[in-house]
Amino acid sequence: MTFNPLEEKGIPVEKQVRSWHDIVKRPFDKHDIDCYSRTRQILMNGIEVEAWNFKHNFSRSFHDAEARKLISLSRRIEDMQQTTVNWLTPACQSVLETTLGYEQVAVDLTAWLAQNEPDEYVKSVYDMGLLEDFDHLYRYSQWAYMVHGIDPDNILQGMTDVVIGRPTQNHHNCSGVRLMNHYDRNTASPQTKVNLYTLVSGEQQTHNFYAEHGMMYANDDLRRTYGEICDVEEEHVTMYESLIDPNETPLEKLLLHEFTEVCTYYNCYKDEENDKLKQVWEEFLAFELGHLQIASDLLKKHEKRDPEEIIGNKIVLPCHFEEQKEYVTNILENEIDKRHDGKGGFTTIENLPEDWPSYRIQDITNGKGAPTEQTIRLIDTSIGMDIVTASPKLRKKEPDLLARGLEPEMQAPNTVTVEDYERMVEVEPMEF
Ligand SMILES: [Fe+2]
Ligand SMILES: [Fe+2]
Ligand SMILES: [Fe+2]
Ligand SMILES: [Fe+2]
Repeated sequence: MTFNPLEEKGIPVEKQVRSWHDIVKRPFDKHDIDCYSRTRQILMNGIEVEAWNFKHNFSRSFHDAEARKLISLSRRIEDMQQTTVNWLTPACQSVLETTLGYEQVAVDLTAWLAQNEPDEYVKSVYDMGLLEDFDHLYRYSQWAYMVHGIDPDNILQGMTDVVIGRPTQNHHNCSGVRLMNHYDRNTASPQTKVNLYTLVSGEQQTHNFYAEHGMMYANDDLRRTYGEICDVEEEHVTMYESLIDPNETPLEKLLLHEFTEVCTYYNCYKDEENDKLKQVWEEFLAFELGHLQIASDLLKKHEKRDPEEIIGNKIVLPCHFEEQKEYVTNILENEIDKRHDGKGGFTTIENLPEDWPSYRIQDITNGKGAPTEQTIRLIDTSIGMDIVTASPKLRKKEPDLLARGLEPEMQAPNTVTVEDYERMVEVEPMEF
């Protein structure tokens, strides 16, 4: 089914206020929920946080009283939606379990977007970020085992591989190096725009979650691991948001935010099999259609522009979740040595100049050891191997992947070596 969101009225904003009992629903059962229902719930929380935060920034810099009043009404609703969606998380789902969910979102969402992105350049940036979140999932999986004794597949359900990616200690760049070339708002397709608005929201919320929860563990190495990866997520927000055209007007951005919410809720509704969640997605899709009407009317009134010129006349699908192992393995085997060239493009490790600005950052941040390397040292000391959930063939490739993915010029003093991996992959994998 496809429809033109601009022709749907949805539910008017004045009818979107709900009771506290409807806002705060019973959480899902963490033992029973499908992993992709959980990824949808995690992503939609990020979408709502971005919608709410954007509207506060909008109101702080937009002069028109009527627009500010309308935005204040729908912003309140965004916040109530965020509570509903985020608080579907059960209290018994640990921070690390939720963290594995966040990185599963990042890996499988980015892989989906890369394959459904009409702009080749934007796709190349998705492929860059993909291998970094993939490595985060690997590092956090070790901690989930060491702290809670769990199999990463309790959360991932066998849909996403857990194996070394581009080593996290090499994700730390000079922020200027992360800045990409933005799309042209006049020629980029609505799909490109919605894909980016979706992923920026997801990465931003991942950053926020680590920033707010990493301190909830007492272990210093784990706290530092959260600190290290939180900072990479900050780089990811910088990288992806730099692809968005900064010439979009505030009202154009408002329209794109509401359109992104319509598309993501529609995609969730279409894919969802859990009845309780499906009901939420359906109701909130109708809310967002109401918000889109407001944004569309404001754009017509203040800029005399046709919203269809910006968002087109049909829905797009920015967040379909399904197994992406084949795609991810292909990028892993071919792009693990890919690096930012500092000019909005990419190069490989062997072609990096001696004065590459990111070396200076890594030299400082990893100077006393990289927590994400310490993670592997600790699990190796404890059980003589790392926790991997991937085919035996892919697991055997870890030493080779590390040899190609690690920057020879810049390694933390506690780096786990290729020889360490050669030894670890000889051990029979753990049976959970
Ligand atoms: Fe919303
Ligand atoms: Fe990540
Ligand atoms: Fe990320
Ligand atoms: Fe909205």
